[in-house]
Formats: sequence, C-alpha cells, structure tokens
Amino acid sequence: MISKQVLDLEPQFIAWRRELHAVPELSFQEVQTTEFLLKHLRSIPGLTIEQPTKTGVVAVLRGAHPGRTIALRADIDALPIQEETDLPFASKTPGVMHACGHDGHAAMQLAAAQVLAGEREQLHGEVRFLFQHAEELPPGGAVEMVKAGVMEGVSEVYGMHLSSNFPTGTFGVRAGALTSATDRFDIEVIGKGGHSAFPETCVDPVVTAAQIITALQTIVSRRVRAVEPAVVSVCMVQGGQAYNIIPGEVTLTGSTRTFDRETRRTLPQTMENIVRGICEAAGASYTFRFSQGYASVINDAALTQAARQTIQTTFGEQAVLEIEPLMPGEDFSAFQENCPGFFVELGARNEANGCTFPHHNSRYLMDEAALKYGVEYLCQLVRSRLGEA
Ligand code: NI
Repeated sequence: MISKQVLDLEPQFIAWRRELHAVPELSFQEVQTTEFLLKHLRSIPGLTIEQPTKTGVVAVLRGAHPGRTIALRADIDALPIQEETDLPFASKTPGVMHACGHDGHAAMQLAAAQVLAGEREQLHGEVRFLFQHAEELPPGGAVEMVKAGVMEGVSEVYGMHLSSNFPTGTFGVRAGALTSATDRFDIEVIGKGGHSAFPETCVDPVVTAAQIITALQTIVSRRVRAVEPAVVSVCMVQGGQAYNIIPGEVTLTGSTRTFDRETRRTLPQTMENIVRGICEAAGASYTFRFSQGYASVINDAALTQAARQTIQTTFGEQAVLEIEPLMPGEDFSAFQENCPGFFVELGARNEANGCTFPHHNSRYLMDEAALKYGVEYLCQLVRSRLGEA
C-alpha cells in the first residue's frame, strides 16, 4: 500500500501539480516550468542539478554505495489547447493547457526525488531524474537530451504516463511493443492538365493518384507479415479546380503506424516503389517525402517483469492490468535506443468525480488521487532496482 511518507507528502505534490497546471508552456518553451523545477530540486539536499538542454532539467542522486545507474523520465510540456474546465487552478495562459497530464508527471517525479534523496545511505548506484521538455512536438525533447549525454552510463530507463483509460489505483503493463511508430508521407503526382473532353492529350494525375491509393493498401495486406500490426492511411487527397478540367497535379498525404522496427525501416522504400511504378506506367512524375515521427516504445521483457513484481508487491495483484498496445506516439522511445526501458500507464480514471475525458481534450481532468500511486511506484521501483549491489 501507500507509505505514510508518501501520504504525508501528498498535499505537497498535489499543490505542485496545480501550480504547474496554472502556467502551462508549449514544447521547447518550458522556461517557467524549468525554473519551478530548479527551485524545488535545489532545495532538496543530496541532488546534483544539471541543465543539459535549454529547457528541461536533470537531477542526479548518487547512492552511498557503488552500483548501476538508472534513469526515471517525466515529461513537462503542455499543449496548444484552450482549457475548458472550471478548475480554480485552470490555465492562466490563453490557448495553452496541460491537457495530457504532464503537470502530474513532473510533480510525481519531483516528489519521488525528494523521498529518495533521503535514502542515499541505502542506495547502491545512481538515479537520474530526467525532467524532459517537448514530448508533444516532434522531433521531441528526448532526442535532444540523449544527444546532450544524459543517458551515458545508464543501464535502465523508466517512464510513466497518467491515463484516463484505466481506473485510479491500477497500472497498465505490457511487455514488448507498447506504442506505435507514427510517420507521415506526402506524395505529389505530377501529370499534364487539360480539357476533360480530350484526356488523350493529358496525363491524368487523378486516375494515377487513385491507382496509387488503392495499391498502397496492398502493403499491409500483401507485404507485411500477417501477425505484424501496421497501418497505411491516405488521409488527404487534393487536386482539381473545375468539373471539366483535368488538373496538372494531385497530392496525397497520410500517415503510417508500425510497431516492428524492421517493418518501419522498409516501409518508405516499398511505398516509393509503388508510387514510381504507377507514375511511370502513366507517364506522370512524382515527389515522395517520408517524415519520421517517434519510434515505437518497446518494453524490455525483464524490466517489465521486475516492475510488474514491484507493483504487485506494493499494491496487490489487482493493481496490474495487462494492456493492449497503444496507438499514440511517445518519444520515450528515444531513451530506449541506449538501454532497455519500461514504460507504464498509471490509471487516473475516476467516474465518481468526472475524470473520464480523454487526454488532449479541452475538458481533460486528472484524478489527483492517482498521483500518490505514481510516487509510491517510483520510490519502490528505485528501491527494488538499487537496493543492493
Ligand atoms: Ni502525454
């Protein structure tokens, strides 16, 4: 269950969360948020504070005994959404809102840093508390932090996200692929426009684009292994101005979602081959652009098992929910390029007080009662990983 220490600290971390909620900042602009975190982290004895990136902050806790280094990551940024809650601590910044719960993530990790800093004597190794900026805006803050060296020497990394999908007091756990990689493509089919009555004098990009749209559907059905989830969706089709004019070009824009790294790696080439082949046959030309979003979060099997054990021991077996993969992207994956990692979904859904709105919604409400579970989990996780050499 939840320790007295964490319960005593609860009013404090709820207050931190509310303070952050009132002053949300967009990705890469988390200046006040960083100042807030610095102020509180500096007041905790035993932490070494580093600022490897313009916004965001890293606090290092070195245990009294030698051992490995683990990293905990909390994201801190908000979204370009006008808040529509009537909370007394609602956003004071028009058009910006903590609608994904990152204010809660920052507050929980701050609280865990405070608790664990008091346990230096028992810890074997080092904890790096990463307060990461810009999770919401690709290319994301995680890559920047990794480039700045925050993962050097780290052997395990852990992340957590509040979730209005699962009830407060539960943890959504999954080994293997947890989130999908979300990438974008832009295709321009360039033909030759003209009068609709004389198609033989034109190269019709509408018909060519239509063939491309249909043929792209064969990638998932014919080229990707049946057991491998993948999506190729053409979501925007633009071209043409008049009912009797064949346009000069048509653009297709869409997104792909994959879980497997190899499938993701080969997808752009497969797509371009199809586009090239069809355009060649039609006598059209094309441009093809593929922009990578976040990679898939892959939970390491051994770390998942260890974390699941920690959750069961601390909160009981009923607290663990085995969950399906999630579609939203997460740049936590950037930290996992360096070492194994585990990402958990912390339940924060509560019908009784209306905390049921989805994330990224202007009426999103967090069940603050969930925060204590998150803080306790972080503390127990570190104790279990660094409790002995
Ligand atoms: Ni989020």
